[in-house]
Amino acid sequence: MKNCIHIPDDFAGFDPCGFCIPQPLASSIHRVLIPHGMIKDRIKKLADDIFKALVEEEVESVSLLCVLKGAYRFYADLQESLSAVNANESSKGHFHIIPEFIRLKSYENTSSQGEVKIMGIDDLEKIRGKTVVVVEDIIDTGRTMRKLLSTLESHQPKKVIVVCLLRKRTPLSDGYKPDFVGFEIPDRFVIGYAFDYNEYFRDLMPLCVISEKGIENFKE
Ligand code: HPA
Ligand code: MG
Repeated sequence: MKNCIHIPDDFAGFDPCGFCIPQPLASSIHRVLIPHGMIKDRIKKLADDIFKALVEEEVESVSLLCVLKGAYRFYADLQESLSAVNANESSKGHFHIIPEFIRLKSYENTSSQGEVKIMGIDDLEKIRGKTVVVVEDIIDTGRTMRKLLSTLESHQPKKVIVVCLLRKRTPLSDGYKPDFVGFEIPDRFVIGYAFDYNEYFRDLMPLCVISEKGIENFKE
């Protein structure tokens, strides 16, 4: 876990009035935690760091595994940045990127449900003997990632590297540390940039902290 950006517990965030937020969602947003442009900037550096690590290992191809649904936006931006470095003639290496997808579900309302469901694993045989980069949106307890990793290991990949956009500081963490992390954030429920609350807010661009009213408005 190198060079991760630490957002402190006492960081107040930004007033949402300064950002483009759809009017019907405005009362559901407490503060903007990370503006969209800053997420994009950070992803470029993550792509650089991942590229260097993969080139160092002399890999020829990489299975870039998107953990749906939450990681879809992060995955698209990371893949674009990774491909840009990969295509750059002055980069010291090149590898093929093979996109793969898997779907997990564990959240309802703002708490993790006991069970992690894994869907779309029928063709995980494709990762046998491959270097896999798992692209996840957020790690909090670490439970979901450990379950996913043990599922992946049963298909005997050559190596598994985990990158997540956010790591939440929570007392419920089992101590799991991914290889690459975008931002370490306080223990608050976030929405936007594909993070949802009961499937709402995924299309909001900045990463925001949900308000009490938002939790109430969109409760299942
Ligand atoms: N927001 C959305 N989904 C999540 C979160 C969060 O804060 N933590 C874990 N899954
Ligand atoms: Mg997720």
